[in-house]
Amino acid sequence: MSNPSEAELIHMFKGIAFTTRSSPELLKSLDTFDAREDDVLLVSYPKSGTHWLAGVITKLYSTQVTLTSPIEFGDISKLEELNKLSSKRIIPTHLDYNMLPLNFKEKKCKMIYISRNPKDIAVSMYHYYRDNPNLPTIDTWTAFFDLFLRGDVVCGSWFDHFLSWEEHENDKNILFLFYEDMKKDLPKIVKEISLFLGLNINDNDIQDICKKSSFSEMKSDTEKNNIDPSHTVCALTSNRKLIFRKGAVGDWKNHFTPKQNRRFEEVFNEKMKLSKM
Ligand code: A3P
Repeated sequence: MSNPSEAELIHMFKGIAFTTRSSPELLKSLDTFDAREDDVLLVSYPKSGTHWLAGVITKLYSTQVTLTSPIEFGDISKLEELNKLSSKRIIPTHLDYNMLPLNFKEKKCKMIYISRNPKDIAVSMYHYYRDNPNLPTIDTWTAFFDLFLRGDVVCGSWFDHFLSWEEHENDKNILFLFYEDMKKDLPKIVKEISLFLGLNINDNDIQDICKKSSFSEMKSDTEKNNIDPSHTVCALTSNRKLIFRKGAVGDWKNHFTPKQNRRFEEVFNEKMKLSKM
């Protein structure tokens, strides 16, 4: 059987590429979504450490919480499915701020945005594309590098995504985190998350959560459990090796040529000139 064509895998909505697993009907109906005041949104551009953060957050609660698949993933029945959940909902999303269902903003739901060095994101996404049959075929790193810089990848431009959220970094209901800070001092960030969520977690529990959230623990955990991909944070693959790949800071240095690095910096400086990053 031949590989599915790009048109069978990708469609555009409001200028952003989505996989066909996010139905246009669902995307159109997002603004009708009924948020609950206690919903927690876990926001990221793909490959920023979403699973890691989700792993940490779900371990913080002693009451029952449900980690859903991304809100934009599925067909029109998705919103109804989320409505039926009786427990507290932790809802991941890769949507940019402008596309986020209005009700989350009106109800000032807590949102945690995780970001990462976009060079490492590009590399992580390249591997993810390359080995994932649910995404268009990528021939070379060089080809992917250009697509990434142009924003011709799923979820659109990293720059636009980051900037749309950064505008709201001072909103009291939004916590901004960086993957690199989690790598440097996870207990500190876990403490910060727990305070933001209003949870009282003692230092022993924090240490325990950090241990269970290490790259190796999380990787072997998901390999043990046969998880249904339509109900996990990354709804595009059941191959957990694609998600827990290397878990390192600075892998871009093993992929970028000096020329690519210069080009990336040029685009970064231009696009991010109004950013505080
Ligand atoms: P790499 O491809 O660079 O290894 P997301 O969950 O948003 O799709 O992000 C996936 C990236 O986060 C992958 O990066 C993955 O290895 C990394 N990651 C997942 N769990 C991690 C953990 N516990 N510690 C560090 N990195 C982790």
